[in-house]
Order: sequence, then structure tokens, then C-alpha cells
Amino acid sequence: TKVTPYANEPFTNFSLDENKQAMEAAIAKVKSELGQEYPLYIGSEKVVTEAKIKSINPGNVDEVIGYVSKANQALAEKAMVAALETFESWKRVHVRKRAEYLFKAAALMRERKHEFSALMILESGKNYVEADVDTAEAIDFIEFYAREIIRLSEINETGPLTKIAGEDNKISYIPLGVGVIIPPWNFPLAICVGMTTAAVVSGNTVLLKPASTTPIIAHKFVALMREVGLPDGVINFIPGSGAEVGDYLTTHPKTRFISFTGSKEVGLRINKLAADTVPGQIWIKRVVAEMGGKDGIIVDETADLDAAASAIVASAFGFQGQKCSAGSRAVIVESVYDQVVEKVAALTKQLQIGLPENNFAAGPVIDKTSYERILEYIEIGKQEGILLAGGEKAEGNGYYIQPTVFGNVSGKARIMQEEIFGPVLAIAKAKDWQEAIAIYNDTEFGLTGAYFSTDEERIAEALETVHCGNLYINRKCTGALVGVHPFGGFNMSGTDSKAGGYDYLLLFTQAKLTSRKI
Ligand code: NAD
Ligand code: ALA
Repeated sequence: TKVTPYANEPFTNFSLDENKQAMEAAIAKVKSELGQEYPLYIGSEKVVTEAKIKSINPGNVDEVIGYVSKANQALAEKAMVAALETFESWKRVHVRKRAEYLFKAAALMRERKHEFSALMILESGKNYVEADVDTAEAIDFIEFYAREIIRLSEINETGPLTKIAGEDNKISYIPLGVGVIIPPWNFPLAICVGMTTAAVVSGNTVLLKPASTTPIIAHKFVALMREVGLPDGVINFIPGSGAEVGDYLTTHPKTRFISFTGSKEVGLRINKLAADTVPGQIWIKRVVAEMGGKDGIIVDETADLDAAASAIVASAFGFQGQKCSAGSRAVIVESVYDQVVEKVAALTKQLQIGLPENNFAAGPVIDKTSYERILEYIEIGKQEGILLAGGEKAEGNGYYIQPTVFGNVSGKARIMQEEIFGPVLAIAKAKDWQEAIAIYNDTEFGLTGAYFSTDEERIAEALETVHCGNLYINRKCTGALVGVHPFGGFNMSGTDSKAGGYDYLLLFTQAKLTSRKI
């Protein structure tokens, strides 16, 4: 059967009553199911352990989302055995059949879209739009990678190889083996789904270790894949401690690849541990590590200043600044600095803080550790800049922090250099647009950036010199779309794997050349 062309999943318009009510109904349904226990899935077994990970609502910390069983090293080993065994059959399943499971999963997720979003609202503290966008991105990843594996499998029909007489030459992208999938909590559905389905549709089997703050939404995805009939053992679900289960699997001789998205510290650790060979290992492990960001928006004096200020606020405070793409820095040229800063501070002060299920613009941060770390950075910011908005914790039975803006911050300040991963924006003043670009580039990261200007020559120069994986002109630096804006960063932002792009599946496959004499 012919596959329809890929198109992005539309976002829901919550200013329409019917959509808002549909989300409220989904939240009520999810609430009526809270507090359950969820198993691990290892091969054909559902495993229940005594030890559990308790997932709570960060916006209302007394509300338990659920309890998920917790893998230890023995269970991780059992999962590895199951994944190795299943790989032998899964790698032989026809590409179209593998893609078919994904198409079915995308259709079901689309049908239950608000339910997935509602669970994220409660488990991760996203508001309606942020959760809806996350679910839409998850659907996009599934649809996109299913089509991508079909495209790769048919690549010989479009003639990628130079032809010579007397031989029939073909290239095929075959799977690698067993992969360990380690997603973060901040796109608890989209990134978990994207990383897992890319690996699986490419013919690999995986051990999925979700982030410990958002295991229930990860479970809901795994349950969906089981519902569409994905064979047992293709996705083995093993929530557990990053240090214990993560290190064990990273150093395991049978691990063929590790697909990680998360912090720089953990990514570098995985990269280092995976580089050592251990007895019984017959390959170089492949590591895909997408890591942190210190993304920023540059504004010059020719820019539309209102549009720039709105973009700065949206990029800095969407999902409380907890996006790898978050615009946690802004660099503004001197002559318009005061105007832009005033607009940014005013827009920030308008953001209302409250429970995600009531759809406030600003919600909680993910957990106590983050909350305390962000508040410490706010104290550092008070030494490093001028407080223009926020600067305190906020009311509520959860991890609420006021959206906070610091001005007059030096490019070298800690709040300009270190990823805070919370609702904290640092603004620097530059003497001109060239200095603004230099300040932007003075970072170890390089994930997203935006340049606001109406001057074509400067835009052309910015396109060349602003050094980041995803560079946007005259728009916010968050909100990359699958297939449209392949996503990944430079330098300490990771391996620039370009999730949602046309090269991504190459990372989960190896190219085999076959040459037949004719
Ligand atoms: P994190 O590094 O703390 O955790 C990520 C995952 O790694 C979790 O599942 C965690 O349990 C696991 N882990 C922890 N220790 C481990 C170990 N020793 N071995 C293996 N796994 C281990 O990151 P986080 O707090 O979940 O996510 C936030 C970070 O992710 C931010 O730095 C953000 O910028 C980054 N991020 C990057 C991208 C991107 O595409 N570049 C996307 C989203 C998030
Ligand atoms: N797609 C997400 C963004 O760009 C990561 O914000």
C-alpha cells in the first residue's frame, strides 16, 4: 500500500471552548485513574518489583500519579537477554511490517491525544499548549520515522551508487543490535517516543530506561506499542536508577548503541564509559548523546522590538524554561536595550503562575532538586545582574518559581554560561550587532539561537556566524517541528544527531554493500 506524504500533526486551539472542555474531560479521566501500579516489561513478562518509583504531580506534590516497578542490575541483565534473543527475529521482520506497527501506534495516539497530554499536564507540569505540542511531536516522530525507514529501504531505486558494467550493486541499511534508550523528562512523551521508535523501526531491539520523574507517561507509550501488537521483547521497559541501571548497561559488552538525551554531565559520562571495551565486546559502541543548551536571542536596533520581546519571553518561559531549546539568554544592542528590556520585563510580569491543570501560563518546575538548584542560581543572579522581574519562589503546593529576568549581565557571568534549566532569563547589552553575535557565541553549548533584525546584510552574516545547530531568524528559538526543523546542537550540546531529520535513522543502522556479478 502507498503511504501518504508526511505532514505535521496540527496543534489544538484551546481558545475554542470545545477543545478546552475536551482537555478538561481528559484531565478528569486521567485523575480518576491516578495512583495505580505499573510493571516492567521484559520479553514476554510483566515484572512487578517490591521497590517502586513514585511519580508525583510537581504542581501539587501530594498527588501521586502512580508507582512504577524499579529495575535493578539483575533485571537489566534479564532485559538484555530478552532483547538479544528478540533481535534475532525482529531484524528479519520486513521494513513495511515494522513501519506498520508505527502507523497503527500513531493513529491510536492521535485518537487519544488529549489523554496523553492530560497525563503530561499532571506528571510533568506542562500547561495545555505545551502538553499538546509534546503529544503532537510524539505523533510526528512516529509518522516520520516510519516513512523514513521505508525511504531508506527503497533507496536503491533512486540510484545512490555509481553504476558499472557487469555488477549489480546495492546498499542496505541494516540494524545494529540491542540499544539502550535513555530519554529526559522534559519532553516526556515526544523525546521518549522519538528515540525509541527510531531505533525500533530500524530493526533494533531496545532497553528503555525512562527518566525517573516521568515514568508513567513513558509506560503509557509502551502500553500503546503493546496494544498495536509490537512483538514482546522489542521494547523492554526498565525504569530504574540512572547511576545503577544506566552505568550497568552502558558498560555491558552486548550493548551495541546508546541513545541518550539529557544533561551534559550524564552524556559525557556515558560517552566515556561506552568508549572502553570490555571482555566479550566485538564492536565500538555507538553513542548518540544530545545534551544541554544555553540558547539565546540576539536583537539589533533594526528589529521589530515588540516581536523580539514576545519571542524572548516565549522562549525563556515556555514550560518554565525547562526546554533544551529554551532561550535563557538575550543579547540586545545598546541603542534599543532599554526599550526591549522594558517590554520583556512587562510581558514577564504578566505571566500568571498556577496549577497546570488549570492551564496557567507558568507552572511548577519538575522536582525538589531542580527547584533548589534554580533558586540558588537566582541568588547568584542577584549578584551578577539587575533583577527586573520575579526573583522569588511562588505560592502553591509544588515547585513554583516566579519567572525571573536579570538585566545588565556580563557575557561571562555564570547565569550567562551555565544551563539553569528553569524560568531564569539573563540579558546582556552589546555595543553593536557584531559584539552581540560574539557574546552569543561565547558559550560551550550551541543548540538553538535566534537573530532579530530587518537588515539583510546582517541577517546574511548572522546565518553564517551564529554557531548553533538550530538557528532561527525573527522568531523564537523553541518549537522545532519534526521533518521541518531537524533538531540537534553543536559543541557540548551533543552529537548534533538531528532528531526528526532525514539523516537520523542512519545512526541506528549500518550500511551494507552487496555486489553481485551479472
Ligand atoms: P539527566 O542527564 O539528569 O537525565 C537524563 C536521563 O539519564 C534520565 O533518564 C536519567 O535517569 C538518566 N541517567 C542519569 N544518570 C545516568 C547514568 N549514569 N547512566 C545512564 N543514564 C543516566 O537530564 P534530565 O534532567 O532528564 O534532562 C534535562 C537535560 O536534558 C537538560 O540538560 C536539557 O538541555 C537536556 N535535553 C537536551 C535535549 C537535546 O535535544 N539536546 C532535549 C531535551 C533535553
Ligand atoms: N522540539 C523542541 C523545541 O524545539 C525540542 O523546543
